[in-house]
Amino acid sequence: MRTQVGIIGAGPAGLLLSHLLHLRGISSVVLEKRSRAYVERRVRAGVLEQGTVDTLVEAGVGARLLREGLPHHGIELRYGGAGHRIAFDKLVPGRAITVYGQQEVVKDLIAARLAAGGDLRFEVEDVEVHSPESEPYLTFGGERLDCDVIAGCDGFHGVSRPSVPDGVLEVFEREYPFAWLGVLAEVAPSSEELIYARTERGFALHSMRSPTVSRFYLQVPADADVAQWPDERVWAELKARLETVPGFELTTGEIIEKGVTPMRSFVAEPMQYGRLYLAGDAAHIVPPTGAKGLNLAVADVRVLTEALAAFFEHGSPELLDGYSAACLKRVWRAQHFSWWMTTLLHTFDEDDPYGRRLQTSYLDYVTSSEAAATTLAENYVGLPFDRPHV
Ligand code: FAD
Ligand code: PHB
Repeated sequence: MRTQVGIIGAGPAGLLLSHLLHLRGISSVVLEKRSRAYVERRVRAGVLEQGTVDTLVEAGVGARLLREGLPHHGIELRYGGAGHRIAFDKLVPGRAITVYGQQEVVKDLIAARLAAGGDLRFEVEDVEVHSPESEPYLTFGGERLDCDVIAGCDGFHGVSRPSVPDGVLEVFEREYPFAWLGVLAEVAPSSEELIYARTERGFALHSMRSPTVSRFYLQVPADADVAQWPDERVWAELKARLETVPGFELTTGEIIEKGVTPMRSFVAEPMQYGRLYLAGDAAHIVPPTGAKGLNLAVADVRVLTEALAAFFEHGSPELLDGYSAACLKRVWRAQHFSWWMTTLLHTFDEDDPYGRRLQTSYLDYVTSSEAAATTLAENYVGLPFDRPHV
């Protein structure tokens, strides 16, 4: 079997790459170890930057997103007994975010690939990368797939990054001493906009998926287990961390999904080895506080598509050679923003009273200075895709 681009992983990165390549007349095969039902149900990100929405719409997979996605023109930072709006409409006019579940993006992309006769293989076993330096090929479940290029879109725990020989990639990493407990609940959101709440008990985030489904996150210890978090405890803690401003009441409902996500910052450089190109979480991870992971995956894939199109259409390798450097500028900006949002809003056990005062002082600055709020807003809605190095 032969294809131009062998893609490992049917997450947002792998599926979007396959779709964008198809639009440019480039063939691909996507190999995914999980089932279709599993990847379509995996609850993760929810915030799409303007550039991500534009990419999906331009690629013809944005109809349901435009219909069902919830455009947001601001977020609230809540701390010290008050809420402060970061008004995108005022600070970065014309730019907004859209709340639309990652699994909905995944469903839309799978449907588009299958409708176009795309070759997606689910539940494939033992994918392995071979000779990425010269004549790359993949093996899986006793089969062989020869490729001109391999795209490693298999997330943080995939096989593509570990298949690069030791010493080639430089790794930059930071772990945080806490995790996020995420819950999905069948209840109307208690707020129109997302609330990022900093409290002495830890961070909480109120997000949503639709007018009848809410999404919440709680900062929990790094070794937390969902078994320690029965529904009553989740609601009590969400109330304690969110009902901190006069008149705000959190409506509770049935919890339909619960999971713990570790918090990590990670970058592997370069995002390439021979003819193996890494995209999305396979190359970099950010803590979710900045809502950047999915959006970075989309940005990588856009750059990779242009580079592969130049390579296959005109035989020009220059863009492919510059792939990693082009992506890493945006990646590092998002790394800083995500680290900054995380340190601003979470409680750290080792923090002394001085550290805590620095945190609230910075929050006061961000919520009172238009320049500081604009920095937050322009990073949150996402820097334009054609200016990755801003
Ligand atoms: P993944 O989505 O991880 O996809 C990789 C795929 O590869 C998976 O389907 C996996 O099964 C498959 N795979 C792995 N190993 C193999 C193998 N050996 N063989 C074959 N297939 C394999 N980002 C945002 O932008 N905004 C947010 O609001 C946001 N919130 C988040 C909240 C949470 C709780 C979490 C966990 C993440 C959040 N993120 C957010 C991050 C975002 O979900 C990820 O960055 C995004 O999923 C990356 O997409 P990807 O395609 O690179 O990787
Ligand atoms: C979500 O809705 O899942 C979400 C929103 C904002 C974040 C992270 C996750 O920063």
